[in-house]
Amino acid sequence: MNQESTTPVSAAPVEGQNDVMLDVKNLYVGYYKDLNILQGINLQARRARITTILGANGVGKSTLLKAIYGFLSPNQGDILLEGKSILNVPIHERIRLGISYIPQQPGIFRWMTVEENLELGAWTFRHDKKRIKRKLEENYERFPVLKDRRHSKAGELSGGMQRMVEIGRTLMTDPKIILVDEPTAGLAKLLSEMVYQMLVDLRDLEELTIVLVDQEIRYALAVADYVYVLELGRNKFQGPAEEFTDLEKAFWV
Ligand SMILES: Nc1ncnc2c1ncn2[C@@H]1O[C@H](COP(=O)(O)OP(=O)(O)OP(=O)(O)O)[C@@H](O)[C@H]1O
Ligand SMILES: [Mg+2]
Repeated sequence: MNQESTTPVSAAPVEGQNDVMLDVKNLYVGYYKDLNILQGINLQARRARITTILGANGVGKSTLLKAIYGFLSPNQGDILLEGKSILNVPIHERIRLGISYIPQQPGIFRWMTVEENLELGAWTFRHDKKRIKRKLEENYERFPVLKDRRHSKAGELSGGMQRMVEIGRTLMTDPKIILVDEPTAGLAKLLSEMVYQMLVDLRDLEELTIVLVDQEIRYALAVADYVYVLELGRNKFQGPAEEFTDLEKAFWV
């Protein structure tokens, strides 16, 4: 991978436009008025693919996910889900449209049971008991170990299994796209591998679109289909994951 061989940011996408689930266009966003952390970011995430975002600490990776989910309002640019702008769509509606988000800080409720944690994911349809039960059963089929531990306090589970609970909780709303921020931070190698395998399975078995922010460059590249590298709020490189295998030249670190 080098600067010349990597696709320029403005280049035409490799596959057809119909495959684009998420399209971030020229996005400017920040936490304070007149101070944009992201300065014209462009990103496309394709259906049933893992799109990985890499970059050093503080370049704005989490800020980008927060803006896509709706926690931050852009000052300029657009965010399209399946071709339609979601800029003015509130978070609970974005969830209904199929966006879900697993933040960088683990969000498990340690004193609640696994099942109670999963049920929290069903908040937007909390009165529909049948649907909640169906979604729980789907999760238990997907992650049988959660069924075995459904009455355990979530805080008693291993770090990898806690991530499984978070992923399961997010799947309660039938997302089309999941935004995942550093899912293996602080996890041991084996548990990290388990989490990456979960993401790969969601892509391959359930055709979910995944946007993955990561600092575990080797693993993130191994599971990625397409990669974006950010540098201080801007796009630096992008290309198919195969173009990023030469880690010697991975000079964003
Ligand atoms: N809540 C906040 N209020 C103000 N500034 C913030 C806030 N969160 C992040 N920032 C600033 O925005 C910039 C980008 O932060 P962000 O968390 O998006 O980076 P990141 O690429 O996810 O970094 P890391 O790899 O460390 O998670 C940083 O300068 C950070 O200090
Ligand atoms: Mg971050």
